[in-house]
Amino acid sequence: MTAATADEIARARTILRGARRLLVFTGAGVSAESGVPTFRGPGGVWNSYRAEELATPEAFARDARLVWEWYAWRRTLVARCEPNAAHHAIARHVAAHPESLVVTQNVDGLHQRAAREADPTRGGTSVVALHGHLFGVRCTRWPACSTRGTHVATIDATSADTLPRCERCGALLRPDVVWFGEALEATDLEAAFDAAQRADACLVVGTSAVVQPAASVAATAARAGAPLIEVNAEVTPLSRLATVSLRGRAAELVPALLDD
Ligand code: OAD
Repeated sequence: MTAATADEIARARTILRGARRLLVFTGAGVSAESGVPTFRGPGGVWNSYRAEELATPEAFARDARLVWEWYAWRRTLVARCEPNAAHHAIARHVAAHPESLVVTQNVDGLHQRAAREADPTRGGTSVVALHGHLFGVRCTRWPACSTRGTHVATIDATSADTLPRCERCGALLRPDVVWFGEALEATDLEAAFDAAQRADACLVVGTSAVVQPAASVAATAARAGAPLIEVNAEVTPLSRLATVSLRGRAAELVPALLDD
């Protein structure tokens, strides 16, 4: 990996700081320096678990306890993590430019926490979480049963009998995340692609850009004419679309790009 040069950073900074409607599109790499494992690459969680065994509706139907155990582990891990300098720089920029939007594939809630700190009035609404919320649950009978919300209490996945259940109808609760084979929320997709069409610039941070339809958000912005700035430890399929593609760590580069 060749680290980003001062010239590249200066060029990207000029583009980003001139954007009124900035679209920030992120993946697991933006939270890596907070201690949240990425999905792919060294230490990625998909290296030790098979996605189709855990993050699918079929897996939950087959063994809800195993799936909840994995999510309980991730929830405990993320609960100990704090937003890092990249989340904070993004949140400050979006607070100062209210037509900007963060679209993230992450379910860890770290952008939302940074956003609430930077702008308590708009707070979490400046973030669209395409793949859902790690600390959210919904009834397995949803939408027939309307139970859906935040659930921060510890999940006891030691047996099928201790798993969380819906207070309204008694059915099992499930994590409020998007699993492989499931559709993303239509309102989230619309907000993301609308922002992509209207963006003055797009900053992409820490995503391998291989999971669809999310990965198409940044490509759509680039095709609609927005200069694309990429921050990633490695080259990705988006790098060739980027006006400037910066190699390095999000928590170092993003504040250098966005802060005064
Ligand atoms: P990945 O794990 O696929 O990719 C993480 C990216 O972050 C890689 O391109 C790394 O090079 C980069 N990276 C790692 N550390 C970094 C750092 N400190 N600074 C900058 N970049 C860094 O994660 P995503 O692209 O988010 O979906 O994965 C997309 C989706 O795949 C996830 O939302 C999840 C997963 O399956 C679902 O669960 C539906």
